[in-house]
Amino acid sequence: MRARGSDPMLVFATSDKGGTGRSVTSCNIAYRLCLRGHDVAYVDFDFGSPTAGALFEIGGVERGIAEGLGLHSYLQDQIGEPARLNVTRSTDRSQLRRDPPGSGKLVLFPGDEGGAEFGCDDVKVERVATLLSSLLGEFSVVMVDLSAGRSVALELALRATASGPLRNCAHRWLVFHRWTHQHVLAAGGLVHGAHGLIKTGGEWGHDSEALLASTRCVRTAVPAADRTRSGDRPPQSAWLDEQAVALRELAMANRIGAAMMLGQTPIEPMLQWREQLILDVDVNAQLANEATVEAYTDLARRLTDKSTWDIE
Ligand SMILES: Nc1ncnc2c1ncn2[C@@H]1O[C@H](COP(=O)(O)OP(=O)(O)OP(=O)(O)O)[C@@H](O)[C@H]1O
Ligand SMILES: [Mg+2]
Repeated sequence: MRARGSDPMLVFATSDKGGTGRSVTSCNIAYRLCLRGHDVAYVDFDFGSPTAGALFEIGGVERGIAEGLGLHSYLQDQIGEPARLNVTRSTDRSQLRRDPPGSGKLVLFPGDEGGAEFGCDDVKVERVATLLSSLLGEFSVVMVDLSAGRSVALELALRATASGPLRNCAHRWLVFHRWTHQHVLAAGGLVHGAHGLIKTGGEWGHDSEALLASTRCVRTAVPAADRTRSGDRPPQSAWLDEQAVALRELAMANRIGAAMMLGQTPIEPMLQWREQLILDVDVNAQLANEATVEAYTDLARRLTDKSTWDIE
Protein backbone atom coordinates (compact mmCIF):
# COMPACT_ATOMS: atom_id res chain seq x y z
CA MET A 1 0.00 0.00 0.00
CA ARG A 2 1.42 3.40 -0.88
CA ALA A 3 -1.12 6.02 0.04
CA ARG A 4 -4.51 6.29 1.63
CA GLY A 5 -6.38 8.05 -1.09
CA SER A 6 -4.43 11.29 -0.88
CA ASP A 7 -1.44 12.84 -2.60
CA PRO A 8 1.96 12.00 -1.21
CA MET A 9 3.23 14.50 1.30
CA LEU A 10 6.70 15.78 2.03
CA VAL A 11 7.19 16.83 5.64
CA PHE A 12 10.21 18.73 6.90
CA ALA A 13 10.91 18.65 10.63
CA THR A 14 12.76 21.75 11.78
CA SER A 15 13.60 23.53 15.00
CA ASP A 16 15.55 26.60 15.90
CA LYS A 17 17.24 24.99 18.85
CA GLY A 18 18.73 21.54 19.36
CA GLY A 19 17.18 19.12 21.82
CA THR A 20 13.62 20.28 21.19
CA GLY A 21 12.17 16.79 20.72
CA ARG A 22 12.14 17.17 16.93
CA SER A 23 13.53 13.70 16.13
CA VAL A 24 11.75 11.74 18.85
CA THR A 25 8.42 13.36 18.01
CA SER A 26 8.92 12.99 14.25
CA CYS A 27 9.79 9.31 14.46
CA ASN A 28 6.80 8.67 16.72
CA ILE A 29 4.54 10.53 14.28
CA ALA A 30 6.07 8.45 11.45
CA TYR A 31 5.30 5.25 13.37
CA ARG A 32 1.71 6.33 14.06
CA LEU A 33 1.27 7.18 10.36
CA CYS A 34 2.36 3.64 9.50
CA LEU A 35 -0.17 2.18 11.90
CA ARG A 36 -2.77 4.27 10.04
CA GLY A 37 -1.78 2.54 6.80
CA HIS A 38 0.71 4.99 5.35
CA ASP A 39 3.99 3.94 3.80
CA VAL A 40 6.48 6.31 5.40
CA ALA A 41 10.07 7.19 4.54
CA TYR A 42 12.08 8.70 7.40
CA VAL A 43 14.98 10.62 5.95
CA ASP A 44 17.77 11.66 8.33
CA PHE A 45 18.99 15.07 7.21
CA ASP A 46 20.51 15.86 10.59
CA PHE A 47 23.89 15.82 8.92
CA GLY A 48 25.95 16.76 11.98
CA SER A 49 24.41 14.02 14.14
CA PRO A 50 22.73 11.27 12.10
CA THR A 51 21.34 9.24 14.99
CA ALA A 52 17.86 8.26 13.74
CA GLY A 53 18.91 4.58 13.80
CA ALA A 54 19.06 4.79 17.60
CA LEU A 55 15.43 5.95 17.82
CA PHE A 56 14.31 2.91 15.83
CA GLU A 57 16.74 0.69 17.78
CA ILE A 58 18.56 -0.60 14.73
CA GLY A 59 21.77 -2.27 15.93
CA GLY A 60 24.95 -0.94 14.33
CA VAL A 61 23.17 2.11 12.88
CA GLU A 62 22.74 4.09 16.10
CA ARG A 63 25.12 6.80 14.89
CA GLY A 64 24.51 6.36 11.17
CA ILE A 65 25.19 3.63 8.64
CA ALA A 66 28.73 2.54 7.65
CA GLU A 67 30.57 5.34 5.92
CA GLY A 68 30.10 5.39 2.16
CA LEU A 69 26.52 4.02 2.21
CA GLY A 70 24.29 6.75 3.58
CA LEU A 71 22.81 10.11 2.75
CA HIS A 72 26.08 12.01 3.19
CA SER A 73 27.70 9.92 0.47
CA TYR A 74 24.64 10.15 -1.76
CA LEU A 75 24.45 13.94 -1.50
CA GLN A 76 28.15 14.25 -2.19
CA ASP A 77 27.65 12.33 -5.42
CA GLN A 78 29.67 9.30 -4.30
CA ILE A 79 26.91 6.69 -4.64
CA GLY A 80 23.86 6.36 -6.88
CA GLU A 81 21.35 5.60 -4.11
CA PRO A 82 21.48 5.95 -0.34
CA ALA A 83 21.05 2.91 1.92
CA ARG A 84 17.55 2.14 3.19
CA LEU A 85 16.47 0.07 6.16
CA ASN A 86 13.02 -1.35 6.68
CA VAL A 87 12.46 -0.51 10.35
CA THR A 88 10.25 -3.44 11.34
CA ARG A 89 12.69 -5.89 9.74
CA SER A 90 15.93 -4.36 11.02
CA THR A 91 15.02 -3.19 14.52
CA ASP A 92 16.31 -5.00 17.60
CA ARG A 93 13.07 -4.21 19.39
CA SER A 94 11.01 -7.39 19.20
CA GLN A 95 7.64 -5.67 19.74
CA LEU A 96 8.32 -3.42 16.77
CA ARG A 97 9.03 -6.37 14.47
CA ARG A 98 5.33 -7.11 14.16
CA ASP A 99 3.43 -5.34 11.38
CA PRO A 100 -0.13 -4.92 12.71
CA PRO A 101 -2.79 -5.66 10.05
CA GLY A 102 -3.43 -2.67 7.82
CA SER A 103 -0.18 -0.93 8.65
CA GLY A 104 2.17 0.50 6.04
CA LYS A 105 5.93 0.19 5.79
CA LEU A 106 8.41 2.38 7.63
CA VAL A 107 11.78 2.83 5.94
CA LEU A 108 14.75 4.71 7.38
CA PHE A 109 17.24 6.48 5.13
CA PRO A 110 20.20 6.95 7.47
CA GLY A 111 23.13 9.32 7.24
CA ASP A 112 26.73 8.08 7.19
CA GLU A 113 28.41 7.27 10.48
CA GLY A 114 31.05 9.93 10.99
CA GLY A 115 29.28 12.13 8.46
CA ALA A 116 29.43 15.83 9.18
CA GLU A 117 27.75 19.03 8.09
CA PHE A 118 28.77 20.20 4.61
CA GLY A 119 28.13 23.19 2.37
CA CYS A 120 25.12 23.73 0.13
CA ASP A 121 25.55 23.87 -3.65
CA ASP A 122 23.46 23.36 -6.79
CA VAL A 123 24.51 19.72 -7.20
CA LYS A 124 23.36 18.84 -3.68
CA VAL A 125 20.09 20.71 -4.18
CA GLU A 126 19.48 18.70 -7.33
CA ARG A 127 20.32 15.43 -5.62
CA VAL A 128 17.93 16.25 -2.77
CA ALA A 129 15.18 17.02 -5.29
CA THR A 130 15.87 13.79 -7.22
CA LEU A 131 15.88 11.65 -4.09
CA LEU A 132 12.78 13.16 -2.49
CA SER A 133 10.74 13.16 -5.68
CA SER A 134 11.57 9.50 -6.24
CA LEU A 135 10.56 8.70 -2.64
CA LEU A 136 7.26 10.51 -3.18
CA GLY A 137 6.55 7.99 -5.93
CA GLU A 138 6.89 5.15 -3.43
CA PHE A 139 5.76 6.51 -0.06
CA SER A 140 2.66 8.40 0.98
CA VAL A 141 4.58 10.42 3.56
CA VAL A 142 8.25 11.37 3.31
CA MET A 143 9.44 12.81 6.59
CA VAL A 144 12.76 14.64 6.60
CA ASP A 145 14.44 15.42 9.92
CA LEU A 146 16.54 18.55 9.32
CA SER A 147 19.52 19.70 11.41
CA ALA A 148 18.53 22.34 13.95
CA GLY A 149 18.68 26.06 13.23
CA ARG A 150 19.30 27.90 9.99
CA SER A 151 21.30 24.93 8.77
CA VAL A 152 22.54 23.68 5.42
CA ALA A 153 19.84 21.02 5.68
CA LEU A 154 17.17 23.72 5.92
CA GLU A 155 18.64 25.61 2.97
CA LEU A 156 18.80 22.41 0.89
CA ALA A 157 15.16 21.66 1.71
CA LEU A 158 13.98 25.18 0.88
CA ARG A 159 15.92 25.33 -2.36
CA ALA A 160 14.92 21.83 -3.49
CA THR A 161 11.22 22.54 -2.97
CA ALA A 162 11.27 26.00 -4.58
CA SER A 163 11.64 24.72 -8.13
CA GLY A 164 12.17 21.55 -10.16
CA PRO A 165 10.28 18.30 -9.59
CA LEU A 166 9.25 19.11 -6.00
CA ARG A 167 7.75 22.52 -6.72
CA ASN A 168 4.21 21.25 -7.14
CA CYS A 169 4.18 18.54 -4.53
CA ALA A 170 2.60 19.04 -1.10
CA HIS A 171 5.30 20.07 1.34
CA ARG A 172 4.72 20.83 4.98
CA TRP A 173 7.04 22.41 7.51
CA LEU A 174 6.87 21.48 11.17
CA VAL A 175 8.70 23.69 13.65
CA PHE A 176 9.29 21.86 16.93
CA HIS A 177 9.85 23.74 20.16
CA ARG A 178 9.69 23.30 23.89
CA TRP A 179 7.05 25.20 25.76
CA THR A 180 9.37 27.69 27.46
CA HIS A 181 10.02 31.42 27.11
CA GLN A 182 13.29 31.00 25.24
CA HIS A 183 12.02 28.29 22.93
CA VAL A 184 8.93 30.29 21.98
CA LEU A 185 11.09 33.29 21.05
CA ALA A 186 13.46 31.05 19.09
CA ALA A 187 10.70 29.21 17.23
CA GLY A 188 8.94 32.48 16.38
CA GLY A 189 12.25 33.73 14.96
CA LEU A 190 12.75 30.59 12.90
CA VAL A 191 9.34 30.99 11.29
CA HIS A 192 9.01 34.77 10.95
CA GLY A 193 12.48 36.23 11.58
CA ALA A 194 14.76 38.11 9.23
CA HIS A 195 16.66 34.93 8.30
CA GLY A 196 13.78 32.60 9.06
CA LEU A 197 11.89 30.01 7.08
CA ILE A 198 9.40 32.32 5.36
CA LYS A 199 11.88 35.09 4.50
CA THR A 200 14.60 32.73 3.27
CA GLY A 201 12.06 30.59 1.43
CA GLY A 202 10.80 33.73 -0.34
CA GLU A 203 14.36 34.56 -1.37
CA TRP A 204 14.77 31.10 -2.90
CA GLY A 205 11.59 31.50 -4.93
CA HIS A 206 8.81 30.21 -2.66
CA ASP A 207 5.51 32.03 -2.45
CA SER A 208 5.81 33.32 1.14
CA GLU A 209 2.08 33.11 1.81
CA ALA A 210 1.85 29.52 0.64
CA LEU A 211 4.94 28.62 2.65
CA LEU A 212 3.41 30.14 5.78
CA ALA A 213 0.18 28.25 5.15
CA SER A 214 2.28 25.06 4.94
CA THR A 215 3.97 25.67 8.29
CA ARG A 216 2.82 24.57 11.74
CA CYS A 217 4.42 24.38 15.16
CA VAL A 218 4.59 21.40 17.48
CA ARG A 219 5.03 22.05 21.18
CA THR A 220 6.87 19.19 22.85
CA ALA A 221 7.06 17.91 26.42
CA VAL A 222 4.49 20.43 27.60
CA PRO A 223 4.00 20.38 31.40
CA ALA A 224 0.60 19.30 32.70
CA ALA A 225 -2.07 21.98 32.97
CA ASP A 226 -2.80 23.31 36.46
CA ARG A 227 -5.76 21.06 37.28
CA THR A 228 -3.78 17.86 36.77
CA ARG A 229 -0.75 18.97 38.78
CA SER A 230 -0.67 17.70 42.28
CA GLY A 231 1.38 18.63 45.29
CA ASP A 232 2.16 22.20 44.19
CA ARG A 233 2.50 24.75 46.99
CA PRO A 234 -0.10 27.55 46.57
CA PRO A 235 2.44 30.29 45.62
CA GLN A 236 4.10 27.88 43.23
CA SER A 237 0.78 26.98 41.72
CA ALA A 238 -0.15 30.66 41.23
CA TRP A 239 3.24 31.39 39.63
CA LEU A 240 2.91 28.43 37.26
CA ASP A 241 -0.57 29.54 36.23
CA GLU A 242 0.74 33.05 35.52
CA GLN A 243 3.58 31.61 33.43
CA ALA A 244 1.18 29.48 31.44
CA VAL A 245 -0.83 32.59 30.54
CA ALA A 246 2.33 34.60 29.80
CA LEU A 247 3.64 31.86 27.51
CA ARG A 248 0.41 31.73 25.55
CA GLU A 249 0.59 35.52 25.14
CA LEU A 250 4.24 35.33 24.11
CA ALA A 251 3.42 32.69 21.51
CA MET A 252 0.63 34.90 20.13
CA ALA A 253 2.88 37.97 20.07
CA ASN A 254 5.48 35.93 18.17
CA ARG A 255 2.84 34.71 15.72
CA ILE A 256 3.08 31.06 16.75
CA GLY A 257 -0.12 30.93 18.77
CA ALA A 258 -2.88 28.34 18.67
CA ALA A 259 -3.74 28.97 15.01
CA MET A 260 -0.18 28.00 14.00
CA MET A 261 -0.13 24.83 16.09
CA LEU A 262 -0.35 21.32 14.72
CA GLY A 263 -0.48 20.01 18.26
CA GLN A 264 1.54 19.28 21.34
CA THR A 265 2.95 16.38 23.32
CA PRO A 266 2.85 15.99 27.09
CA ILE A 267 5.93 15.25 29.19
CA GLU A 268 6.50 11.50 28.89
CA PRO A 269 8.64 9.97 31.64
CA MET A 270 9.97 7.22 29.35
CA LEU A 271 11.29 9.84 26.94
CA GLN A 272 12.97 11.76 29.74
CA TRP A 273 15.21 8.73 30.14
CA ARG A 274 15.47 7.29 26.67
CA GLU A 275 14.88 8.43 23.07
CA GLN A 276 12.62 5.84 21.43
CA LEU A 277 9.30 4.95 19.86
CA ILE A 278 6.45 4.71 22.31
CA LEU A 279 4.49 1.58 21.41
CA ASP A 280 1.00 0.56 22.49
CA VAL A 281 2.63 -2.27 24.47
CA ASP A 282 4.41 0.37 26.55
CA VAL A 283 1.03 1.84 27.49
CA ASN A 284 -0.48 -1.60 28.11
CA ALA A 285 2.46 -2.43 30.38
CA GLN A 286 1.76 0.87 32.19
CA LEU A 287 5.24 2.14 31.36
CA ALA A 288 4.17 4.97 29.05
CA ASN A 289 1.26 7.34 29.48
CA GLU A 290 -1.74 6.85 27.26
CA ALA A 291 -1.83 10.63 26.69
CA THR A 292 1.55 10.41 24.93
CA VAL A 293 0.33 7.88 22.38
CA GLU A 294 -2.87 9.90 21.94
CA ALA A 295 -0.77 13.01 21.24
CA TYR A 296 1.33 11.25 18.57
CA THR A 297 -1.76 9.71 17.00
CA ASP A 298 -3.46 13.09 16.94
CA LEU A 299 -0.40 14.75 15.36
CA ALA A 300 -0.31 12.03 12.69
CA ARG A 301 -4.02 12.49 12.00
CA ARG A 302 -3.82 16.27 11.83
CA LEU A 303 -0.74 16.21 9.64
CA THR A 304 -2.50 14.21 6.95
CA ASP A 305 -5.92 15.80 7.38
CA LYS A 306 -6.64 18.15 4.47
CA SER A 307 -8.62 20.51 6.69
CA THR A 308 -5.47 21.29 8.72
CA TRP A 309 -3.94 22.97 5.72
CA ASP A 310 -5.69 25.94 4.25
CA ILE A 311 -3.98 25.35 0.90
CA GLU A 312 -5.14 24.22 -2.51
N1 LIG B 1 7.24 14.36 25.26
C1 LIG B 1 8.44 14.26 25.81
N2 LIG B 1 8.56 14.15 27.15
C2 LIG B 1 9.78 14.07 27.74
N3 LIG B 1 10.94 14.08 27.06
C3 LIG B 1 10.87 14.18 25.72
C4 LIG B 1 9.62 14.29 25.03
N4 LIG B 1 9.89 14.37 23.71
C5 LIG B 1 11.23 14.32 23.58
N5 LIG B 1 11.83 14.19 24.78
C6 LIG B 1 13.26 14.07 25.07
O1 LIG B 1 13.90 15.31 24.74
C7 LIG B 1 15.24 15.08 24.36
C8 LIG B 1 15.49 15.78 23.03
O2 LIG B 1 14.70 15.14 22.03
P1 LIG B 1 15.24 14.91 20.55
O3 LIG B 1 16.56 14.24 20.55
O4 LIG B 1 14.14 14.31 19.77
O5 LIG B 1 15.42 16.44 20.14
P2 LIG B 1 16.01 17.06 18.79
O6 LIG B 1 15.32 18.38 18.65
O7 LIG B 1 15.91 16.10 17.69
O8 LIG B 1 17.53 17.28 19.21
P3 LIG B 1 18.81 17.45 18.25
O9 LIG B 1 18.79 18.88 17.81
O10 LIG B 1 19.94 17.16 19.19
O11 LIG B 1 18.69 16.49 17.11
C9 LIG B 1 15.40 13.56 24.26
O12 LIG B 1 16.04 13.09 25.41
C10 LIG B 1 13.96 13.06 24.18
O13 LIG B 1 13.80 11.74 24.66
MG1 LIG C 1 17.39 15.11 16.58
